[in-house]
Amino acid sequence: MSAKLETTFRGDTGQLERRISMREKLTAAYFERERERIFRRAWLPIGHASHLPEPGSYFVRELPVLKTSLLVVRGQDGKVRAFHNACTHRGNKLVRSGAGCRKSFSCGFHGWTFSSEGELKLVTDEHQFRDLDKGALGLRPIHTQVWEDLVFVNGADAPGESLREWLGEMFDEYGGYFEQHERVASLRINVNSNWNLAVNSFTEGYHTLYLHRNSVPDYQGGKINPDRHRPFMQLFKRHHRYSAPANPDHRLTPAEALVIKYGKRIIPAFGGEMPALPPGVNPSRYEHWAFDVVQLYPNAVFLFGNNWHIELFFGPIDVDHTEVVQDLYYYRPKNAGERLSHQFFLSRGRQVFLEDMNTLEAQHAVLSSGILSHLQLSQQEMSLMHHYKVSREMLDE
Ligand code: FES
Ligand SMILES: [Fe+2]
Repeated sequence: MSAKLETTFRGDTGQLERRISMREKLTAAYFERERERIFRRAWLPIGHASHLPEPGSYFVRELPVLKTSLLVVRGQDGKVRAFHNACTHRGNKLVRSGAGCRKSFSCGFHGWTFSSEGELKLVTDEHQFRDLDKGALGLRPIHTQVWEDLVFVNGADAPGESLREWLGEMFDEYGGYFEQHERVASLRINVNSNWNLAVNSFTEGYHTLYLHRNSVPDYQGGKINPDRHRPFMQLFKRHHRYSAPANPDHRLTPAEALVIKYGKRIIPAFGGEMPALPPGVNPSRYEHWAFDVVQLYPNAVFLFGNNWHIELFFGPIDVDHTEVVQDLYYYRPKNAGERLSHQFFLSRGRQVFLEDMNTLEAQHAVLSSGILSHLQLSQQEMSLMHHYKVSREMLDE
């Protein structure tokens, strides 16, 4: 008889459905309800405050689900703000794309100019306008709050909850975690798949034994946990997290042995020194811990490891299309050996990510055809049950 690791569940597991009806979820009408009832009321992470190092630093972030483009800027007062990236004269896009640092933002159409705090500073040929109230024509702001290093926006006229309320218990559990890492790569893929399916692919470990059998065959589970049951899962009001199990019997391949001689472990993530992690990371302090998976509902999934983390954003474009962005953050390298080691793990990470993306289009095609009316979920897929429960609540509230 093989050993079975029993998952420890924490949180409210009531009201979960094990069979999820997908019929109406892949319709344009349902997507419009998701847009208004979920995405317009949620706090959505859109980037990092540390990517805006000085006054005037900015980046542009497209947010098709809210039908907008955002200009995120650090003002001369040091505060991070986000605005709709739209000139208030006739609605031209103020900054096309990208990132940089500017004292002011001039529109390419007729030259109206805005400060980094969003005020309308200059109207060209101003005396030709009658009754222009420049004070009321600043860039249109969107509610913005920063947690740890993450910038969140909320598209509601008046958000029903503060970001602290929205994040709940997790708010105080990740102090300083993001400061340890820097972004080393960013992958962007548009898939012909609904955003829910894309999120779901990254919030269960059941698939890892099969989908990732060639790329990372024995990096989880092992003899002590052959089915790779998650040791710990926790459901919050909206978000959830679980820990992934390491395989203590994993044998390093020669290439792995070489790169961890010169750098730190990323995939597999375990077996190295374990620094003091904030209480939210490996929250159950599981002995054979590999990394955590955290879904910030609705559409962000973070993998939190020791020495690294990954951020995944699933940007709905419409009911059938999603832009998936994967940003990889590793420990800051101190020498050439650590940089080289980073590259090895980046190429392995890319392969695993592509495998995860690989099922989405086929799955979407089948589920939108109506051949299968429901998803059948295991206890190891409880994160998916919870995701659809939260959606139900937000759509009905
Ligand atoms: S639309 Fe921007 S200045 Fe006219
Ligand atoms: Fe995966």
